[in-house]
Amino acid sequence: MELEEAIKGRRSCRDFLPDPIPEETIEKILEAAIWAPSPLNSQPWSFYVITNDEIKRKIFDETVRCKEWAREVSGWKWLGGYDPGFLKQAPVMIAVVANPKGTGVDMFQEEGNMGYIQACAAAIQNMHLAIHALGLGSVWVTFFDKQPMREILGVDKNRVPLAIVCLGKKASEPAAVPRKGLDKKVTYLR
Ligand SMILES: Cc1cc2nc3c(=O)[nH]c(=O)nc-3n(C[C@H](O)[C@H](O)[C@H](O)COP(=O)(O)O)c2cc1C
Repeated sequence: MELEEAIKGRRSCRDFLPDPIPEETIEKILEAAIWAPSPLNSQPWSFYVITNDEIKRKIFDETVRCKEWAREVSGWKWLGGYDPGFLKQAPVMIAVVANPKGTGVDMFQEEGNMGYIQACAAAIQNMHLAIHALGLGSVWVTFFDKQPMREILGVDKNRVPLAIVCLGKKASEPAAVPRKGLDKKVTYLR
């Protein structure tokens, strides 16, 4: 697949078929993740591959809990229509868990540790692009609180569950979400 098609053709998919995904396919996706750049090559990521229905259900329940809470504090009515059912439907989830110590010199800077989050985001995007190039669908999920997710995954307090990548065969083709033009987003300092 051409790089431009990989980047522009990827969509968030929230409608999956139950078909299992072969382990070799999952390994290709994880291989793409670990080739992401990271500060001082710290590689501050680890991956939890979830196919267990009980764990998926716990993740779904946590998202439902967060949704209710977020709806209350934000007052955003549209959240009522957000259906996290795909979390039970996706045949595979990959939880990306970060090591905040694997950051760069930003640990000495005013804004503090951020390099590890940027590195994990690069790894996550690599996964989404690899998944798309393999003809599968995926969605990036952050709709959970850290401590409940640590407990679900069995992860130490000094690690940060940053995101879950849900993936599988697409049950339907997701529509493109529009982007604002470069004229609104780019400043040239000539
Ligand atoms: C950091 C981040 C967090 C996101 N969290 C969620 C999420 O919790 N649930 C969800 O359904 N989509 C989530 N998304 C997907 C976005 O909604 C989606 O990327 C955006 O609407 C653009 O659509 P597209 O990915 O199809 O281009 C997240 C995306 C990013 C980058």
